Amino acid sequence: NEGALWGARFATGPSPELAELSRSTHFDWDLALYDIAGSHAHAKALAAAGYLTADEETAMHAGLDALARGIVDGTLRPSPSDEDVHGALEQALIGAVGPELGGKLRAGRSRNDQIATLVRMYLLDHARTIAREILRLVDAIVAQAEAHPGAILPGRTHLQHAQPVLLAHHLQAHAWPLVRDLERLRDWSVRASVSPYGGGALAGSTLGLDPQLVARELGLARPSENSLDGTSARDVVAEFAFIAAMIGIDLSRFAEEIILWNTREFGFVTLDDGYSTGSSIMPQKKNPDIAELARGKAGRLIGNLTGLLATLKALPLAYNRDLQEDKEPVFDSVRTLEVVLPAFAGMVATLRFDTDRMAALAPQGFSLATDVAEWLVKRGIPFRETHEISGALVRACEQQGIGLEDASDELLASVSPHLVPEVREVLTVEGSVASRTGVGGTAPDRVAEQRAELIARVQDA
Ligand code: ARG
Repeated sequence: NEGALWGARFATGPSPELAELSRSTHFDWDLALYDIAGSHAHAKALAAAGYLTADEETAMHAGLDALARGIVDGTLRPSPSDEDVHGALEQALIGAVGPELGGKLRAGRSRNDQIATLVRMYLLDHARTIAREILRLVDAIVAQAEAHPGAILPGRTHLQHAQPVLLAHHLQAHAWPLVRDLERLRDWSVRASVSPYGGGALAGSTLGLDPQLVARELGLARPSENSLDGTSARDVVAEFAFIAAMIGIDLSRFAEEIILWNTREFGFVTLDDGYSTGSSIMPQKKNPDIAELARGKAGRLIGNLTGLLATLKALPLAYNRDLQEDKEPVFDSVRTLEVVLPAFAGMVATLRFDTDRMAALAPQGFSLATDVAEWLVKRGIPFRETHEISGALVRACEQQGIGLEDASDELLASVSPHLVPEVREVLTVEGSVASRTGVGGTAPDRVAEQRAELIARVQDA
C-alpha cells in the first residue's frame, strides 16, 4: 500500500474493488486548495508548539505553495492510486520537500477534522458567490419594476383572475423571497464559520496545538467546541443544501410564470433571442428553456437535500465513512445554482413586457368586484351585504356578456339602489390599484416605498 495514509497493520494492500469504491478524488479534488490552506495553518500551529523549527516551517510553506501552483495550473493531479485529496496532497508534499519534513505535517490532525473544516470553507466561499448572483437577479427584477412603474397586470389567485395589481408589485413579490434567501445565507454563514481542525479523528489532540490560531488563519470565527461534534456533524452542510433548494424553489415559481406569460394565450412577455432557444424541427419555435431548466433543476436541488438528510439520519457518533456522501450532492447544488442564477438574471433583465395587453386583460374576469363591495362599505353598508350586491352585479353582467365597467345606470340600479353611478370611480383598473393604499398594497406610492425598502434590505444582507 505504497504511499497511502495507512497500511502498516495490514498484510496486504486494498483490493482493487475496495480501492474503486473508496476513491473520492474525482470529487474531493475540488477541495485541494482548501486542503493546502488548512495545511499552511496547521504548519503554523505545529511550529508555534515547537514541532517544526523555523527553517522547517519555511520549507513547509514553500512546498505547500509549490503544490498550490500545481493545483491551479493543472500540473498536479491525483493519481489513480490516491484514495482522497488528503492522501494525494501528502504524497505530493513528500515529493516536494522530502519524506522527513513531509511526514511531519500529519501530526495532530486527521482526515476527519480536515474534511469537516474544508467543506465549511468551500461552502462559505461559494455562499458568497451565490449571494452575489442572487443580488444580480434582484437588481434585474428591481430594474424591470422601475422601468414599468404604472403597468398593470391581472393579479391571480388559484390562477384565476382575482384583482388587478401593478406589474412592479408582482415582480417585487418575486424579489422578496430572494432577499430572504440572502438573509438565510448570511445567518447560515455565522453558524458555518467554525473550525473543527484540531479535533483529530474524534477525541482531540495530545500535542497542544492552538485551534484558535488555525481557525484565525482559515478565516473562521472560532474552533469547534466539541471534537466529536466538530468531526461528525453535517447539519451545516444540510442547512446549506436546504437554502440552495429553497433558492431553486423560489426561482422555479418565477420561472413557471415566465413560461406561462410567454405563451401565445397570455402574450405578456417576449424573451430576448439571446435568452431563448429554438427547435430542431419547428422553425418558428422560440422556447423559454432557461425558465424550464430553472424549474427542473429545483427538483434536483431538492433531491440533493433529501438524499443528504437520508444519509445523515441515525448515524452514530463520531465520524463514519457515510459522511463522505455529503460532498457530491452539495457540490452539485453549488454548481447548479452557479450556472442557473446568471442565466436567470440575464433572462429577467432582457424580458420585454406587453403592457398594453396586460392592462387590457386586467379588468377581465370581473376583477373589480371586490372594489365595488369595498366602495359600498365606505358608504356605510355592511360587507356581508355589499358582497351580495357586488356578486349580483357580476351575475347580471355575466348574463348580458359585458364587463362591470360597461353596466348601464339602469342595470346598476336594478341590482341595488346603493349602486349609484358614482360607483364607476372604482370601476377602472387604475382606480382600483390606486385605492389599495394599505401597507404592502399595490397602490403606486406604496409599491415605490416598498421598492426602496427592498433595496435597503438587500444592502444589509
Ligand atoms: N474522504 C473522507 C470524507 O470525505 C475523509 C476521510 C476520512 N476517512 C477515514 N477513513 N476516516 O469524509
